[in-house]
Amino acid sequence: MFLKIAMVFNGLVAALLAVPVVGYLLAPVTRRRKAGYESWVSLGSINQFPSGETRLATYHNPVTHTGDVETAEIPCWVRHTDGDHFQVFAINCAHLGCPVRWFPQSGLFMCPCHGGVYYADGARASGPPVRGLFQYPFKILDGNLQIQAGEMPTPGLSADIRQKPCSRSQQCA
Ligand code: FES
Repeated sequence: MFLKIAMVFNGLVAALLAVPVVGYLLAPVTRRRKAGYESWVSLGSINQFPSGETRLATYHNPVTHTGDVETAEIPCWVRHTDGDHFQVFAINCAHLGCPVRWFPQSGLFMCPCHGGVYYADGARASGPPVRGLFQYPFKILDGNLQIQAGEMPTPGLSADIRQKPCSRSQQCA
């Protein structure tokens, strides 16, 4: 009788322990993304970004939490090369995330934390970052520059500019 009770008890414990494991394994299939991911947000009229210049812009993060106030305003760098060609860079350094600054005199982005340097097109120039600046996909709609801003650029798959049909360095349809 004790053996049967122990088996039932062990089965219950095993079932309880399996719940989080199964949940973890099924998470990629069952997890629903928060509303706001993959949102397109406007950075304003394209006329704010003169051709040949790189300017700071901010957008309101479409994925916010209660209590986010100023932190929901996200800066980014907008480079207007010519015509409809833009590059929109995340402000965060690709090393450890410090905000990079644009220096038009030298035509370089520089990171104040560990000396990371990037060329005007966001490519890595020197320092500890192993890659260039992350870029947002963008499109132009009714004269407004829009970026896909719900998901912060990261070194993960979503930031791999070569695997997305909508390139982060080219305008999206
Ligand atoms: Fe920019 Fe380290 S965070 S170089």
